[in-house]
Amino acid sequence: MTLRVEPSGVGCGALIRGVDLSRPHSPAEINLIRRAWLGHQVIGICDQNLEISDLERFAAALGPDGDDPFIASIAGHPRVVEVRREADETTPVFAEAWHSDWSFLEASPAGTLLYGKIIPPVGGDTLFANQYAAYDALSAAMKSRISGLQGIHAARRSYSPGGVYGERDKGRSMAIRFSERAMATQLHPLVRRHLETGRSALFVNMGYTIGIDGMNETDATALLTELFAHQTRPEFVYRHRWSPGLLTLWDNRCLLHTATGGYQGHQRFLWRITIGERRADFTKRSKCLGSGLCDSNAVHPGRASSGFP
Ligand code: SIN
Repeated sequence: MTLRVEPSGVGCGALIRGVDLSRPHSPAEINLIRRAWLGHQVIGICDQNLEISDLERFAAALGPDGDDPFIASIAGHPRVVEVRREADETTPVFAEAWHSDWSFLEASPAGTLLYGKIIPPVGGDTLFANQYAAYDALSAAMKSRISGLQGIHAARRSYSPGGVYGERDKGRSMAIRFSERAMATQLHPLVRRHLETGRSALFVNMGYTIGIDGMNETDATALLTELFAHQTRPEFVYRHRWSPGLLTLWDNRCLLHTATGGYQGHQRFLWRITIGERRADFTKRSKCLGSGLCDSNAVHPGRASSGFP
C-alpha cells in the first residue's frame, strides 16, 4: 500500500494513510512523513497499532530526545510520558491553553508525538494554530514593531508550586512534578525563523510567554494581548479529531496547540514523546545568533525581569 497524504483543507494539518509503523520503516518512508510534517505542520498517521517500542523507534528516526521537564516518564521508557485523564477526574483538563510545548526551554522542542490509546467517544479534540500564517497576516507596522524583540518564556503559571499544576492541584492522574525550577525564564525572539523550512513564524504563546525583554509590564501586556488574540484567529486553526490508533506529530516551531475538554465521564489516555531539534539544525541556529530571527540561547534562572506572572 502506498502512503497517502490528505490535507485538512484549513489552516494546517493533514492525515496520512497507508503506512504501518509497527514494523521497521524505511528511510524513504521517514522522508515522506517528514516532508508531510514540515509542509502541513501537524499530521495524523491513521490506524496504527503500536507498542511503546514502535513509538520509540519512530521518534528516534525523527530526531534526538527532547527534554520533558515536570512530567515523570513511564518506568523503563525515559522518552515517553502519559497524557491521561480518568473518567471521574475533576482537575482542569491538562494543556487546555494555547502553547508551544516547553517554549520556556533554551532548546525548545522541534516536535511532539502523541499516540491515542484510549479516546473518548465525544470531545477531547486538539486545536492547532498555524503561526507562519499568523505572522504573514500581521500588518507591516506590527511586523516592524516586533522585529528584534525577545519574548520572556517561563513555566511558572503552570508548573511552579503556585501554578495550575502546583500544590493546589489535587487528584490528577498524570504524573506532573511541579517545581521551583518553573520560575526560570528564557528568551526567544517574537519572530523565529524555522531552521528546516526557513520560514518566519510568530513565536509567543499565552501559556508560557510572560513578558517582553526590556519592555515595561503595561506595554508588554498590551502588545502580548494583541498578539495572543491575533495568533489564534479561526482562519489559522485546525481541529484535530482523535481516534484510537491515531498517531499525531506536530511542529512546535510554527504551531500553537491547545487541548479541549468535553469528555467528562470518559477516560482519555495517550502516550507522548518530545522530539528535539536535530543536531545539524541546532548548529544552524547557533550560527545565526544575533540575527534577530534565531533564539537567544540565553537562560536567566529565576531572574527578576520584566516578565510577570
Ligand atoms: C499536549 O499538549 O501535549 C496535550 C494535547 C492534548 O491532550 O490534546
